Amino acid sequence: MIGNIRRSLLYVPGDSAKMLQKAAALSSDLLLLNLEDGVASAKKDEARGNVVLALNTIDFGVREIVVRVNSLSTEGGLKDLAAVVPMRPDGICLPKIEKAAEIQAADAAILKLEIGHSLPEGGIRLHAMIESAAGLLRSSEIAAASPRMASLVFGSADFASDMRCLPGEDRAELLLALQLIAASARSAGIDAIDAPCFNLKDADLLRREAVQARRIGFDGKSALHPDQLAIINDAFDFTAEEIAWAERMIAELDDAEIKGKALTTVDGKLIDNPHRKAAERILSRIRR
Ligand code: COA
Ligand code: MG
Repeated sequence: MIGNIRRSLLYVPGDSAKMLQKAAALSSDLLLLNLEDGVASAKKDEARGNVVLALNTIDFGVREIVVRVNSLSTEGGLKDLAAVVPMRPDGICLPKIEKAAEIQAADAAILKLEIGHSLPEGGIRLHAMIESAAGLLRSSEIAAASPRMASLVFGSADFASDMRCLPGEDRAELLLALQLIAASARSAGIDAIDAPCFNLKDADLLRREAVQARRIGFDGKSALHPDQLAIINDAFDFTAEEIAWAERMIAELDDAEIKGKALTTVDGKLIDNPHRKAAERILSRIRR
């Protein structure tokens, strides 16, 4: 699953056998089978059992399957890890990460389980949730803490609570966090996945948030409800105009190069090497 496209990440409650089953047919690039917050304390054991059974029996198709375990500093988190790693999910999502050492400890614990169960070493990827001020300020070290790292996932509700921040609809109060998470992920060569839109009824707000995240540099956005997936996937897909723009940039710059020039203008705008790189990135993802 390395090199996967991660436009959408759907939270699937581990305590709902029905939603776990339902998720197999939904158009989310990544399914996050959730055992942490959102699952009541009294239901943690049942949720773990449901997720193990789901990993064993449900055909989720080609999508990426990640289990969000409870914090590995708790007994429940260690039980989650021991139960799910032998079922070979594509990844493990670690909540409330605040330092690189937590990633390294998770990496070592997973390696031990992989060896114990004769699984390929290093196969299971890690997704770290950034949901506190401390985690945000160390997000670049967290992103680079292990070769298993696949993405940083923004947890905006916990983050806002930790920060005593009151985000408005345009998320101006969260811009620094969004930009830092995207830059940290980019600097480590991994993906950045935005938090969900908590208003499940406002499709316009969801679209605005998804477009905002994409323009900042995010690779995808979380979803809480199946109805949010189409809007998110669409926002993170390149439009026909963007693809046409990319093709034109390359053609114009190739043309300029033949004439011995490293830059040119298109519709009155200067273009040069950074535009070529952006255009090549679009076309290479389309090919993927
Ligand atoms: N994953 C899989 N299936 C889901 C789903 C999800 N996250 N959310 C809803 N569904 C299913 C429902 O089971 C229902 O299936 P059905 O048509 O076969 O009966 C269908 O999609 C429509 O759902 P709907 O009736 O509109 O919503 P609901 O009342 O069943 O669920 C929530 C609403 C918010 C409780 C639910 O979407 C949910 O639990 N989301 C995840 C929340 C979460 O994990 N939070 C923690 C992280 S912040
Ligand atoms: Mg959280």
